[in-house]
Amino acid sequence: MIEMSELKCAGRGTLASGDRVGTGCLACSVPAKQKNLFAWVGTVTATLALTLALCAMFTPPAHAQNLTYIQDPKWQAPPEASAKVNPLANKPQLAAGGKKIFLRDCAQCHRPDGTGLPPAANLTLPLVQQQSDGALFWKITQGNTGKKMPSFSGAPDAQRWQVVLFLRTLERSARAGQ
Ligand code: HEC
Repeated sequence: MIEMSELKCAGRGTLASGDRVGTGCLACSVPAKQKNLFAWVGTVTATLALTLALCAMFTPPAHAQNLTYIQDPKWQAPPEASAKVNPLANKPQLAAGGKKIFLRDCAQCHRPDGTGLPPAANLTLPLVQQQSDGALFWKITQGNTGKKMPSFSGAPDAQRWQVVLFLRTLERSARAGQ
């Protein structure tokens, strides 16, 4: 026998015991537990859709910074170049001039904040910042033209060292933003 409690129907109220299940609306033939499941699935789907929409609104486009930069293992400064000390190291105020050069010559590829438009390196990453001043100076001087990093050997040494000073400030601002 069919229990009366299973036969509640929004449209028709409780079925009389003589009624046959399946003759009423479709909802009447769906047990209450299953109806709850449908409602639950609906709510979860709606919540997911809303979350995805909000994420899409607030996430910058994938090309905005180079999160997947992989260093070219073949592009390494020789030890004597890495060992060079920045002659401007005791003049951190010159980083401001380095910033000007960076915005003029580098930002179109590395972005003004150094985070890099692919394929250009994200210069705020530890794998870049862990290198010595001399190694960064060497890379800026030589370039890696096969990988689209130009050589800046034509710029005066002092300007390249100034840019290195500026690159060090990117590390600090990246940390502050974490
Ligand atoms: C035309 C685009 C472009 C410009 C302009 C450019 N870069 Fe790059 N840079 C790149 C690319 C691409 C790479 C990654 C090369 C690779 O994959 O080996 C790179 C790599 C670097 C690296 C090495 C990162 C590492 O992994 O050690 C440094 C440092 C750097 N650039 C600094 C600069 C500076 C400073 C300037 C301006 C004086 C500059 N770049 C201008 C495209 C550019």
